[in-house]
Amino acid sequence: METNYWKLTNNQLKDCEAIDEAATMLINGEVVAFPTETVYGLGANATDHDAVNKIFQAKGRPQDNPLIAHVSDRVQMEKLVGPWPGYVDNLIEAFTPGPLTFVLPSNGICATNVTAGLSTIGVRIPSHPVAQQLLKACQLPIAAPSANLSGKPSPTTANHVFADLNGRISGIVDGGPTGVGLESTVIDCTQEIPVILRPGGITQEQIEKVTGVVMTDPALANQSDKPKSPGMKYRHYSPEVPLWIIDGSLKRMQQEITGQKETGNRVGLIASNHIVDKLVADEAIALGENLSEIAANLYHALRTFKQSNVDIIICEAFPEKGIGQAVMNRLKKAASNYIYRD
Ligand code: TXA
Ligand code: MG
Repeated sequence: METNYWKLTNNQLKDCEAIDEAATMLINGEVVAFPTETVYGLGANATDHDAVNKIFQAKGRPQDNPLIAHVSDRVQMEKLVGPWPGYVDNLIEAFTPGPLTFVLPSNGICATNVTAGLSTIGVRIPSHPVAQQLLKACQLPIAAPSANLSGKPSPTTANHVFADLNGRISGIVDGGPTGVGLESTVIDCTQEIPVILRPGGITQEQIEKVTGVVMTDPALANQSDKPKSPGMKYRHYSPEVPLWIIDGSLKRMQQEITGQKETGNRVGLIASNHIVDKLVADEAIALGENLSEIAANLYHALRTFKQSNVDIIICEAFPEKGIGQAVMNRLKKAASNYIYRD
């Protein structure tokens, strides 16, 4: 299959031919990747079973993992779901459009393979101008998982999408690098108290300010519990080389690196700027100064090390506050939960 590639510039979105062409493909049941504020999504008409099936095929995604339906606004969201608890109004007001996915009772409008047969559906109103424009142009709910091959880190640039899916999908809309860099927060809103199923772009602290109380899926802390969000059980974000998280002093981190080098391994280091400056590894990627920068750069770093010839990646343990919760959730998965503490 030939993959169309449209490169957009920022001020070119109104009456944009590329967006119209991409929307027409979506309407015709094709699969197209597009940027959102979190990561690139791989979109298809959520009401068209065959179109949605193409997403699963292109990604190699397990059929039991439901997709998020993307819509342009609250009115479109209401068309896909049953009644919701009052706090959802406040969450919509506070965080949409933006990186928050609401799990609500499905009313059956979307195809059954979007929800993987569940009675609930994940719905999100993305804020990225390209995603917004595309959703408005096609006037459809768009099912979209992250636009990576299943098991790879989510794509934060169109190049990442191209590397994974060129030849497997109908088009890629290149709107530049995404902002947040990690996926949306998935929140179960089917009960009286909301439950975070996947930490992401909207933090627990932000949600608490709006709803007063929010719970987190126990499976996030305890590996032996079955997660309520089916996608959370997979070993995602695998960098294809072992990754160790070191929760300790600089001295401890350097000891690990040196110990690995002594066994003949080439060692890659992922850490914040000030730590990278102080340690000696074979290759190092500085993620930034603060947790937002670290989130934005993490997936690119994991992809870079996948392609380079390191045998092991050593990574700093970041504070699990704010967006740090999502950063550490993804890192622990990449590390199969191996964390070394002093
Ligand atoms: O930021 C994002 O959310 C990106 C962009 C493209 O919007 N999308 C994304 O989709 O990360 P995906 O498919 O990679 O992850 C969706 C997650 C999975 O863990 C899935 O199991 C969960 O949301 N999910 C979807 N529908 C659900 C439902 N009805 N109940 C529980 N979890 C659900
Ligand atoms: Mg994904």
